[in-house]
Amino acid sequence: MDRNQKVRWNPFSSGYFADPYPHLQECRVTNPVQIGTQNCWTLFKYKHVSPILRSKDFEVSDLSEYLKEKEDYIFKSTSACPHLSETTRLWPMYLNGELHKEVRHIMGRAFNEINFQGYIEEAVDKTNHHFSKVTAFNIYDYCGYYIYDIVKQVFDLQKMSQEEMTTYSNLLAVSQDVFVPKQVYQKINEQMNWARQHFQLSKFKIELMRLFAEKKMETDDESIYSIMSISTMAAFETSKDNLTMALVGLMSRPQLIELVMETRGSSLELLIEELFRFSSPLQFTIRVNKEAIELDENLIPANSKLYLSVASANRDEEVFLNANEILPTRTPNDHLAFGGGVHFCLGASVARAELRACLIPMLSLLKNFQLDRNSLRWNKQIFMRTLKTATVHKLN
Ligand code: HEM
Repeated sequence: MDRNQKVRWNPFSSGYFADPYPHLQECRVTNPVQIGTQNCWTLFKYKHVSPILRSKDFEVSDLSEYLKEKEDYIFKSTSACPHLSETTRLWPMYLNGELHKEVRHIMGRAFNEINFQGYIEEAVDKTNHHFSKVTAFNIYDYCGYYIYDIVKQVFDLQKMSQEEMTTYSNLLAVSQDVFVPKQVYQKINEQMNWARQHFQLSKFKIELMRLFAEKKMETDDESIYSIMSISTMAAFETSKDNLTMALVGLMSRPQLIELVMETRGSSLELLIEELFRFSSPLQFTIRVNKEAIELDENLIPANSKLYLSVASANRDEEVFLNANEILPTRTPNDHLAFGGGVHFCLGASVARAELRACLIPMLSLLKNFQLDRNSLRWNKQIFMRTLKTATVHKLN
């Protein structure tokens, strides 16, 4: 790598979606603080990304406002009613200040009422039973089946099929991406409207309404639906993507599988953290600086949009030795896969419990299969990484 030649981040560069890490590394090493258009900056180093994520001096950007500004253009010459800005209005990762605190508190309490552990244990058994007789399958479907079974029970979404949840959740994830074409926003809009019916009878809805009333906060169907939609997406999308990438990462390193099968207790906890760091399904997030800041001799004016590359920070060799490898006992491992600070992932303990429960049972099944590396296909997404196809075949 020529360290004198500053590489500009280009997610459409060849091979980026299949493996963004070589390009992210070039950016991190040659050009770690990059200015883009309209006050946007992209940051790649752990030493820049981590303190910003954890600091109270930075705000999140408002997705709902951003979508509202685009709605006239997106729905020009269509009769569709815009749902984009309404449905995203209370998504906590795009709220600041008191409103964020209130919504996060309500969601946290509602999650605490749910017996995730019970649903997780049932789902592991069901999933392995379902896939035990087949001789070839897609790991993405396997992981999707497991996480779908948990999410459907948690939010009472029994009438939504796995395929429907996959499409819905993925389109909600895409609504937060950059460079989204107008036609895709129209599809997202349709899905946001379609899914409403499925949440009508949910116990989670009743609990949210009770908690809003207890706080004497005004609500309507739109705000409750906004929270239910983000809860479903957050619980399904990243967990399923993380697990798919973690299993494929392990299947690509057969020497690790026997070792993982023997891992228990605190060693299992270390391994799980390492898999989150390695997979980093949420690859970017955005913050806005209230004051001007200086980073590596770059003066960044106040109110700039900072694109924080969590994925790049999690592979920064200045912090993580052999960062592209899975080191089962890596310590310390202060990764940023769940973000940091006031927006730290509200479902991190759920995601950890899911991995803790499924890793060894799933590898016990998968060790009898071989991964077809030629089958790997990735979605063209920048913020949330999704490995859509990874076929395994039973060994003779
Ligand atoms: C491997 C799985 C997961 C990963 C990697 C992940 C990652 C993240 C990250 C990085 C953020 C912070 C975003 C930011 O700062 O801009 C976040 C926020 C959030 N996550 Fe997760 N997540 C996972 C699973 C879950 C699950 C299972 C749930 C729900 C049960 C969940 C619910 C949330 C919520 C509600 C927020 C918003 C918190 C706030 O803004 O205050 N996540 N997640």
